Amino acid sequence: MSSIRLGDIAPDFTAQTSMGEIHFHEWLGNSWGILFSHPADYTPVCTTELGTVAKYKTAFEKRDVKVIALSVDGLVSHADWIKDINETQHTTVNFPIIADEDRKVSMLYDMIHPNADDKMTVRSVFIIGSDKKVKLIIVYPASTGRNFEELLRVIDSLQLTANYKVATPANWKDGEDVVIAPSITDEQIPAMFPKGYTKIKPYLRLTPQPNK
Ligand code: BEZ
Repeated sequence: MSSIRLGDIAPDFTAQTSMGEIHFHEWLGNSWGILFSHPADYTPVCTTELGTVAKYKTAFEKRDVKVIALSVDGLVSHADWIKDINETQHTTVNFPIIADEDRKVSMLYDMIHPNADDKMTVRSVFIIGSDKKVKLIIVYPASTGRNFEELLRVIDSLQLTANYKVATPANWKDGEDVVIAPSITDEQIPAMFPKGYTKIKPYLRLTPQPNK
């Protein structure tokens, strides 16, 4: 087991996947990545999740994000289940699924929470930046399927705030006003944010999204 925190380098590993052997860091290259675990093959919520992710291919590509899934089931199980996903979710699974039968990656990323279930992985999500650092960790229980629109929203925020001295407010969506970082003085704002800004409080200053 390991404890991974935001800002850590995402642990590297070699794994067998439904698309062949992958060396994780090499596979990521200079792209962003999402590594997400699901409890088991042939389960209903997981079937909808993986089908949904397949349908987001263009959205992930637009953001230069590579996606990789994981469960502790084996390659034969993955291959057969993928046929069911494609059939029932009307899509084609277009990303690798790690066959983590020896739980090596699950343990490395702390994806098994024994007090929830001692055999299956929980629904972990790791978003990894192009610098290989962990940018976001979310963990859902087996009973709750993930909201992949939310993951896209978070990626938009992460990629924006990596490049500009801004932060994104509650429920922010791509295209909406953002918060100017507290480290920026009022005097610095005109040069950095030429679209102008609204000062609601000295610590709460909004500006139009700078990369739009
Ligand atoms: C599911 O994916 O449907 C699921 C998996 C494990 C426990 C409960 C539901």
